[in-house]
Amino acid sequence: MFPNSTRDIPATRDVPRHVAIIMDGNGRWARGRFLPRVAGHRKGVEAVRGIVRACIERGVEYLTLFAFSSENWRRPADEISILMDLFLRALEQEVTKLHENGIRFKIVGDMTRFDVRIRDLIAAGQTLTAGNTRLTLTVAANYGGRWDIAEAARRYFAIHPDAARDDAGFRPEALEPFLSMAYAPEPDLFIRTGGERRVSNFLLWQLAYSELYFTDELWPDFDGAALDAAFAWYRQRERRFGRTSEQVQAAGNA
Ligand code: IPE
Ligand code: IPE
Ligand code: MG
Repeated sequence: MFPNSTRDIPATRDVPRHVAIIMDGNGRWARGRFLPRVAGHRKGVEAVRGIVRACIERGVEYLTLFAFSSENWRRPADEISILMDLFLRALEQEVTKLHENGIRFKIVGDMTRFDVRIRDLIAAGQTLTAGNTRLTLTVAANYGGRWDIAEAARRYFAIHPDAARDDAGFRPEALEPFLSMAYAPEPDLFIRTGGERRVSNFLLWQLAYSELYFTDELWPDFDGAALDAAFAWYRQRERRFGRTSEQVQAAGNA
């Protein structure tokens, strides 16, 4: 199991081990160019390629990208169908390349609402890349942080039906193995592009002690230099995890 930031304190590093990103601003990027929103989503897929490469070069071990939230089903039907089409094509075209680059590919979210072709490609991609160790790339699709926690509780109580009656027995840590990202440490750095300062039901549990970085840059413009700026900001943070600054300094930040 990985350290839990409310129980253990992770080691401090210059480069975040786990980066989680809300890729926002595709629509506004397109609107600014008098293009249809789909052009922004296409450019957004290109930005993903660049950031995956940049993360590998910088030694990031886990990259988690929010691609479609459980609330995004509220969008117009034509935009949803374009997004599903882009998702399908990206899966068809990119998974082999991810594998060639030693990337482990994971999806988190409720897959039941996706077309069977998408579900099959996801299953095949996850199996193909399961043994890779260079970077774990997780795409959150039809994901919601509240869904994740509720689902973990549901699965926990299915296995431990008596735990609800056990006053002392149920602790937050009990849910962790059942959360969708149990295979990864908690994000060190959260990035949201596109100017909004909200979490939009992304990794609610896992962001408990992440450093939160917000930038006005729109996702299609977010490149290696923009990532470096986020990392430079991250290096200036003092991660106290509840301690005082004096304690952190005495412990050599560890
Ligand atoms: C993020 O860009 C991509 C998805 C949510 C799929 P948006 O589509 O939200 O872009 P804006 O916020 O309208 O600019
Ligand atoms: C959040 O973006 C979800 C993704 C980037 C996939 P939105 O643009 O949908 O977020 P809200 O609804 O404006 O908060
Ligand atoms: Mg948006």
